[in-house]
Amino acid sequence: MRVVIERLVRDGTVVASSDDSVHDLFPVAVSVDEGEALRGWVIREAATHTIEVGLGYGLSALFICEGLLANGNATVRHVAIDPYQDTRFSGCGTQFLAEAGLAEVVEHYAEESQIALPRLLSEGRSFDFGFIDGNHRFDGVFLDLVYLGRLVRPGGILFLDDYQLPAVAGAASFCVKNLDWTVEEISAGDDLHQWAVLRSSKLRDARPFDYYVDF
Ligand SMILES: C[S@@+](CC[C@H](N)C(=O)[O-])C[C@H]1O[C@@H](n2cnc3c(N)ncnc32)[C@H](O)[C@@H]1O
Repeated sequence: MRVVIERLVRDGTVVASSDDSVHDLFPVAVSVDEGEALRGWVIREAATHTIEVGLGYGLSALFICEGLLANGNATVRHVAIDPYQDTRFSGCGTQFLAEAGLAEVVEHYAEESQIALPRLLSEGRSFDFGFIDGNHRFDGVFLDLVYLGRLVRPGGILFLDDYQLPAVAGAASFCVKNLDWTVEEISAGDDLHQWAVLRSSKLRDARPFDYYVDF
């Protein structure tokens, strides 16, 4: 896994084995700094079950899995959702995960998160940690946060990419101001990437029906 991560970061450009198309990984994929932050939070939370919206080139998934395996539990699992994996990304994400020996650890769903997340919820799935790097429009991020807030254990971590975008920061602000979530970390930002780490409430949602705080 480390060898694959280092090769991808060093080369920056990859050839998809599915169709020989050539892809520049960056700035679409997470940076090494963000990947290391992801791995660090997975380890700090002693996560064994993680979920990600936006598999893309699979670099974030590789760092998350590195953290999972460092936690030393035999039953670790990572769920990665991406409807465009086999089209826009020519299967690069799943290719690199297989090359890293993670085919049995990662479940990929080729669906939009707004379809897959409620289904996972109805199936009774739960996770220790969620990473959101999918549809960055307000409604997309809002739905990802609300559903992942229910899929991740109470007081669990939601790691949010592209926090420099007003729509992403606005969706996070709703959760902090209305759902009693806390901000654990905000990275230094630039035009392309910034991340925020949120923790969901440890308490059951007991808001009155008309509760609303402007965000
Ligand atoms: C910035 S890329 C993710 C990069 C990835 N984290 C990495 O490190 O390689 C955003 C991804 O979100 C996916 N995406 C877009 N809309 C989505 C949706 N509704 N549900 C799930 N994934 C979505 C895109 O296909 C794309 O792979």
